[in-house]
Amino acid sequence: MRDSFGRNINYLRVSLTDRCNLRCRYCMPEEGINPKLDHEDIITLEETYELIKSFVNLGIDKIRFTGGEPLVRKGVLDLIYKVSKLEGIKDIAMTTNGLLLKDMAKSLKEAGLNRVNISLDTLDEYKYYNITRGGKLSRVLEGIEEALKVGLWPIKINTVLIGGFNDDEVVDLVNLTKKGIDIRFIELMPIGQAVDFAQEKFVSNDKVLGLVQSLKPVDKEDPSSPANYYALPNATGKVGLINPISCKFCNSCNRVRLTSTGKLKLCLHSNREIDLKKPLRDGKDLDKIVMEAIFTKEEKHRLEEEEYINRNMNQIGG
Ligand code: GTP
Ligand code: 5AD
Ligand code: SF4
Repeated sequence: MRDSFGRNINYLRVSLTDRCNLRCRYCMPEEGINPKLDHEDIITLEETYELIKSFVNLGIDKIRFTGGEPLVRKGVLDLIYKVSKLEGIKDIAMTTNGLLLKDMAKSLKEAGLNRVNISLDTLDEYKYYNITRGGKLSRVLEGIEEALKVGLWPIKINTVLIGGFNDDEVVDLVNLTKKGIDIRFIELMPIGQAVDFAQEKFVSNDKVLGLVQSLKPVDKEDPSSPANYYALPNATGKVGLINPISCKFCNSCNRVRLTSTGKLKLCLHSNREIDLKKPLRDGKDLDKIVMEAIFTKEEKHRLEEEEYINRNMNQIGG
């Protein structure tokens, strides 16, 4: 499915919930989601499945489940199983904080999930507790071990670089690639909670290359990936740099997003959303609506100009 700039849109990110079992300081307010959504605002997983089917009909072949934390949504295993059976699906992945992975990795793999990306900003127990407002690092590390064991692979760790918080851990984090795990550093984006301090705490990903000079560029397997990849000489894992701020990757963007309220977001950094819940509930021709919507996808983000992105990251799923 092509958009009006000729980009092939084949990747749908599906946020299953805006709830989360953590409260990362740059992502969610301390008191949790505000305002809380009414039950009927959220689309059911049956409805989510109907929407996914329509996207797959139109050429989407890669689905990523996100949140909030996707593993707190009841019924997620069943949905993954059904989606994995759709003709045309090549990749089903998930972005998770990993807290529930220890218990769920095996069932996720059996349901048809291929791989997981795990959000982890520090390897220090106390700092983890602090940034997530209460998370237990050892549970995430056990979750990663379990995911590796059951073959949810390749595993990527996503680390948001935050000045004065984790920029002193770059070398330790890069060394994880010696275990065959990929690690990607993400530049802090001025979205939601992070609007107030994104500029002050911003660290350019160039710093990673400055600190670890033995990193050498490697080809990226997927040209539409937002990351540029590097590797240490003897490591099997790769280091990815996701630079939405210092280097835009919009011209190769292949993705659109579905929120848990049934809204289609064509760009992460735009406030424009297209409602799919009502047409779905009214029995309208979804394929036509989705195809027309995709044709209006923005050319690029305007983070420098946009005044305020009105959703927090937990409502978009990254
Ligand atoms: P792979 O399929 O493994 O390549 O993962 P992915 O990078 O598509 O998904 P993931 O959820 O791991 O994304 C990592 C982070 O990159 C997200 O949490 C966002 O912070 C950022 N990101 C992903 N897509 C976009 C995008 O379209 N625009 C911007 N600005 N950032 C993005
Ligand atoms: N800037 C960059 N990345 C962010 N994430 C959440 N908020 C931000 C932000 N303001 C990341 C999380 C997770 C993914 C879903 O998005 O750390 O890896
Ligand atoms: Fe939850 Fe991820 Fe947001 Fe942290 S960044 S509060 S883990 S959704």
